[in-house]
Amino acid sequence: TLCLPDLERALNALSLGGPVPSFAEADVLGNPLDVCRSYLAGLLCDLIDCDPKVAYNSIQWPNNIDAGDLAIILPKLYPGVKPDEAAIDLMAKFPKEHPLFPLPVHESVHLRFFLKTETFARLLLPYILDRKSSYGTDPALGMRDASSPEGARKKLVVEFSSPNITSELQGKHLRSTVLGAFVSRLYENMGWGVTRINYLGDWGKPIALLQVGFNKYGDEEAYRADPVGHLLHVYHQIEEEFLPLQAASRKARDEAAKTGQDEGEAQLEIESHGLFAERNAAFKKLEEGDEEAVAFWKRARDANIESYTDFYARLGIKFDKYTGESQVSPDTMTEVEQMLKDKGICEESGGAWIIHMQKCGLRAGTAIIRDRTGASTYLLRDLAAVFERSREFEFDKMIYVVANDNNSNHFTQLFKILEAIGMKELAEKLHQAKFSDVSKMAEKLGKGYKPQAILNHCEEAMLNALKADEEKATPFGVPGEAAKALSVSALLGQELSTRSVTAHAFDTTTMTLFKPGTTLDLQYWYAKLCSLLKEQPGTVELSEDDYDAILLDEPNKDEPTNLLRILAQYPEVTHVTYHSLEPAAIMTYLASVVQQLEDCVDDNEGDKEEGDAEEAKPEKPDASITLAHAVLYEAARIVLENGMKLLGLTPFAKY
Ligand code: ARG
Repeated sequence: TLCLPDLERALNALSLGGPVPSFAEADVLGNPLDVCRSYLAGLLCDLIDCDPKVAYNSIQWPNNIDAGDLAIILPKLYPGVKPDEAAIDLMAKFPKEHPLFPLPVHESVHLRFFLKTETFARLLLPYILDRKSSYGTDPALGMRDASSPEGARKKLVVEFSSPNITSELQGKHLRSTVLGAFVSRLYENMGWGVTRINYLGDWGKPIALLQVGFNKYGDEEAYRADPVGHLLHVYHQIEEEFLPLQAASRKARDEAAKTGQDEGEAQLEIESHGLFAERNAAFKKLEEGDEEAVAFWKRARDANIESYTDFYARLGIKFDKYTGESQVSPDTMTEVEQMLKDKGICEESGGAWIIHMQKCGLRAGTAIIRDRTGASTYLLRDLAAVFERSREFEFDKMIYVVANDNNSNHFTQLFKILEAIGMKELAEKLHQAKFSDVSKMAEKLGKGYKPQAILNHCEEAMLNALKADEEKATPFGVPGEAAKALSVSALLGQELSTRSVTAHAFDTTTMTLFKPGTTLDLQYWYAKLCSLLKEQPGTVELSEDDYDAILLDEPNKDEPTNLLRILAQYPEVTHVTYHSLEPAAIMTYLASVVQQLEDCVDDNEGDKEEGDAEEAKPEKPDASITLAHAVLYEAARIVLENGMKLLGLTPFAKY
């Protein structure tokens, strides 16, 4: 990989004059637009004698090549001056001839720069071909970003997936799985040390209900044949009996509340016998370490972990640790409770321990720490888990990738309670990457499905799609094999192109379309690019003339030029995503690369084959592409591969 002296030598050859001006925020070795930004900022300092920081920060990346490659925001560069006057001033001073910057275009508060491609191509193409898989990463960012000791690698814990072992892996868990894996990989690429943990819902009353159910309906033979399937089946059976009781108890509680009572006699009555009491007693036993209860719980947990692990492996995802609600130690919970009591934050109410959230700076709400049976709650376990993880991993940051549950404000409460007990610094390291919890996946798959069924469903749809469009499917080889790999990436891609506020999209019809923006289309163009490059390895020695050739030999220079300009944006896109944690931006970006590529390839093939461009489409390796095009395509291939891998999509191509 290029180091600074190499870069400087390369730049000297472009007669940009002198070393790259140095700015703290610039990542000149990772981001080619930062090289241009630095030159432009340096130039501005010379022209109008301003603060270097102000100059640098006034230069923005427009995010859309129609609006230029870089833009100066005039009010930032000339505070207090009318943009029109500022523009006139700068335009008059701007050099008439510059190897990289032609005269800018003035548009309201912006001065837009369209870089001179002759120069920029010679900078960009070797830059990308040289960096290969590291193009778009910024391994020093982790160090620049967090506030722990200088030079140390920052540590991140990402908690994601976290399904509940008594019920199906739901849409929100799938979404968390895919997003969490992405966030982990992104941070790794940006230089963080990342630990991936799965916090299973493997404790609490549902497990006790499952045990009661198993005693009633469990069948060893059926269990051996299909452990997880049988457990789900048993749970649904017992749940059917339990749900009416739960509804009745809630109703009684609400009615008592209406008359101002804290506790309803009627509610207590319902909960004190029958299945309700059986479940509560079973949970109490489990929490007290009863041998039989623990053995049952362990068996159910292990069977589920085995099944999840297989499912995650098919998605290409691994966890460093399977932890879960069950793994939180009672001692740590007592420690937290004691702190809450000492600070007068929690109080007893009808045998339960509760927190009035006003005491923690929230406007309203009550949180329960222990219920009236003395059982720990989800919240108490989560509070204690923060303590334990911070001791175990000494993280600089922890991200919970968990659906936004509008009813409970669970994480808001969690963070506020930590602050209230004097753990503000720790609380500030915690973040929730949230997303809409709405999903129709469970509905589509029906009751009792195992996680593998999600993938099988997609695979089947993909196989049908490939068989239905043989021509498009050609570059993928044997449909059976291809469907396996492509269905996984199509599923992941659909998750990743859904913005976090939008409801979960699980739709095998759109997933399997060859349509701009779909992952299948992305894979198609990746495969096509590979076949074009096959006989023309793009990484061959390149001479300076080759870079020129790309732009000068073209009858129509616009298409390759625009492709180049888009490829230059990739590091900007990964940086934006690092802050927003919205992978949809990368999906959109890759679709724009593909679209531009399509135009270039069509043009190129059209030239070569004259009139029968349509028939020339098939994926036969095209030995006639020029070296100049091979370089451009290879750069595009690198960007597509890096983007896909960052998202967790395995590029699928038959070379
Ligand atoms: N198991 C939970 C659920 O399915 C998600 C766990 C979220 N993480 C946490 N630390 N509370 O809703």
